[in-house]
Amino acid sequence: MKVVAVIGARPQFIKAAPVSRVLREAGHTEYLVHTGQHYDYGMSQVFFDELGIPQPDVNLEIGSGAHGWQTGQMLIRLEEVLMAQRPDWVLVYGDTNSTLAGALAAVKLRLPTAHVEAGLRSFNREMPEEHNRVLTDHIADLLFCPTQTAVDNLRNEGITAGVHLVGDTMYDAVLQFAAVAPQRSTILARLNLTPKGYLLATVHRPSNTDDPANLRSILAAFAEIEEPVIFPVHPRTRKQIAALGMDADPGPTANPRMIEPVGYLDMLALEQNARLILTDSGGIQKEAYWLGVPCVTLRTETEWVETVAAGWNVVVGADRARILAAVRQAQPPGERPTFYGDGRAAQHIVRILRSHDRG
Ligand code: UD1
Ligand code: UDP
Repeated sequence: MKVVAVIGARPQFIKAAPVSRVLREAGHTEYLVHTGQHYDYGMSQVFFDELGIPQPDVNLEIGSGAHGWQTGQMLIRLEEVLMAQRPDWVLVYGDTNSTLAGALAAVKLRLPTAHVEAGLRSFNREMPEEHNRVLTDHIADLLFCPTQTAVDNLRNEGITAGVHLVGDTMYDAVLQFAAVAPQRSTILARLNLTPKGYLLATVHRPSNTDDPANLRSILAAFAEIEEPVIFPVHPRTRKQIAALGMDADPGPTANPRMIEPVGYLDMLALEQNARLILTDSGGIQKEAYWLGVPCVTLRTETEWVETVAAGWNVVVGADRARILAAVRQAQPPGERPTFYGDGRAAQHIVRILRSHDRG
């Protein structure tokens, strides 16, 4: 079986790593296309190095730009690649512009197309990801859902054919790498941190970064927290902090402690040892749950509703007072039910692809 996998942004490298490994171990051919959406070493190559993902067969080097330009450039280039490769399956991951471009290029060529992490919904059309998800789910042939909620969301939109509940490939990755992260990462020593003696924060959603009031409010909340707040800053966010005229490099003792984005093993080590995580990331909300760390979500809604129902995640938005109250009050329950599969989502995906393969 020959698969073309389309990836391009940080979370997609992590989502694809377990599937790539299983495909290759089973003797299938994976042709890996990197759209170039993310390109800094710390946003891209570090994940290939650390997760053992093979070098992409092609990097389209599209880079940053407006949504239409970026998605359009990807569509043009992906069509050429797919026409040349003619795979049995095209695999797309998550909800970025790379996801939509990959799915659209594939279905227009009538190539069988599968969406990993299908069925996620925020029901907020202000989010660019929501368009990408809805459109990709409505055109893909196979929909690999991480949760029962995702299956239900698809059913509510009339999609039942080709839907498979397989679990979350990010969970597969955490199970594989959480054990090695403490050995291979030295970040706690480098930042002079003690386990459970700090909080970890990430912010990159446009609703926070591109809204000056929200960005100021979040940074003000971080600054008021007494424990160190370790803040690996996404490049989008660094730009916007600078645009506000705020100091994006205020020094090693200021709160929040702004650092460059970190690799996956450093991130897992930081997550494992944080007392609490503040984030607007999708992936990090789940990682907090899997690692048993309370999470405060800096958004007005979440796709990962199970983490909230289980009491490990509170959704507070960008309001300074609400963020501070949530940090003070966070008290996770003992129980963490399994919502995200059996840690073998990648195996299930490859088995199902194989069973549908006409080649
Ligand atoms: C994208 C995804 C988002 C995902 C996030 C993961 C879309 C619409 N959004 O958002 O769903 O959660 O990736 O991190 O696909 N930049 C750099 N270096 C890089 C990459 C980006 O400096 O390597 C800067 C550029 O100024 C760029 C900005 O970050 O304009 C935003 O990058 P882009 O890929 O457009 O969107 P993200 O915010 O990263
Ligand atoms: N991540 C990382 N280093 C960082 C920030 C995030 O390795 O500095 C990892 C994180 O552990 C998770 C993934 O990147 O696995 C989440 O990506 P991101 O928050 O960029 O996107 P989202 O999940 O919101 O789409």
